Amino acid sequence: MSTQASKDNTEGQKVPLLVDDHTVTTVRESKIMVILRGLPGSGKSTMAKEIEQKYKDNAHLFSADNYNIKPAIRTSDGGEYSIMDDELHKCCDRHEANLVILDDTHHDRDRLEKLFDLANQFHFTVLVIEPKTLWKLDCGQLKDRNHWKLSLEELKNLRPTLEKELLPLYFGWFLAQCDEDKLRKISQEFLEQLGAFKAFKKHLQSYGIEDKHKLNLLKYFAKTPNILHCTSKYCDYGKVVGSEEYAQMEAVKKGYSRAYTLHITALFVTPRTTGAQVELTEEQLHLWPLDAEKEVMPKDNFPKGSRAHITLGTAADIQDVQTGVDLLEFIKLQQTGGEKEDFGEMYRGKIHYYENGMWMLTLSRKIEVKTIFSGYYGKPGVTAPQQGSKKVFLPTCEIM
Ligand code: A2P
Repeated sequence: MSTQASKDNTEGQKVPLLVDDHTVTTVRESKIMVILRGLPGSGKSTMAKEIEQKYKDNAHLFSADNYNIKPAIRTSDGGEYSIMDDELHKCCDRHEANLVILDDTHHDRDRLEKLFDLANQFHFTVLVIEPKTLWKLDCGQLKDRNHWKLSLEELKNLRPTLEKELLPLYFGWFLAQCDEDKLRKISQEFLEQLGAFKAFKKHLQSYGIEDKHKLNLLKYFAKTPNILHCTSKYCDYGKVVGSEEYAQMEAVKKGYSRAYTLHITALFVTPRTTGAQVELTEEQLHLWPLDAEKEVMPKDNFPKGSRAHITLGTAADIQDVQTGVDLLEFIKLQQTGGEKEDFGEMYRGKIHYYENGMWMLTLSRKIEVKTIFSGYYGKPGVTAPQQGSKKVFLPTCEIM
């Protein structure tokens, strides 16, 4: 790569994981799969190498070029990827790198779905990054820049597959691994203490548990998200009205792949869900859709960001989306001065009982968690995977 070409790239592509200090620190504490996407010659390889260089102790770069895989519309079953995929799988399975960088055109939906599967299996947060070079879609210029010597016609064939932005199932803030493990541990301790609480045992009817000796809240909320996150916009890969507009928002474009610290103010439990209430900062509210609260409770008025939460667990047959609805229910009761019993200090704060089995622990000290703003990607029509059991607590993490 010539000095000029390299300069062109760095000028136009200041991605947060290269230049933003908070993002760099957070990425180092997370498991991230960077999927570089774009036409041959658009600047992916330069960026891939820069990222690898920045995180060299803990990164592994897989470049399709190194496996002699020529960018093309595929008619085969993708067998040309078998060696690369074997090595990639081994790298993930043996925890050889916390940051996996994939440098390829990534124009093929089947190929992407295979990679998303792998990322979800090994708990990687996916960042889909496209170079922002001025010539990224200019086939005339790309013809001279791509080292595969693809013809104008070959490039024009590939171009439509990369013009459209890839929308996720949902956008949101994904917890860095250390903070995720800490929050899971806090949630576990809270559920154990609440489950053993005398007053809680008196209100068991709403939980459908008759015998207080059979009560185990950890088992009751056994379903937990694969990676803990705070959803900002549910898109269903573009099917939800307004998702394309959301993805095009300046704040979303700038915020994508950037690190943010979220502040948790309360933990709550209802017969359906358990979650954490998140207080968004002014900056984070720019990433919050205007209609997020109205979407689920159209008749009520809530301050923007009221629905922000992290689902920690759901009861059998309950969908994750219920957690935000339950949180708004608490806020509605708070607004109307609804029934509330104060049971004093417990665990990390003050515990209150509302009604119908709804408990909220207001934290005496907010819990801060580092996150990366990104999307969850998978196969359309297939729901996001869940964990049935708790993740292992990392011994290297500090206690919050
Ligand atoms: P949440 O953010 O409350 O945890 P699913 O597996 O059901 O497709 O959901 C995937 C994720 O998207 C979950 O995190 C879930 O809830 C969130 N989600 C699902 N449906 C919606 C929706 N209509 N609005 C906002 N978030 C949603």
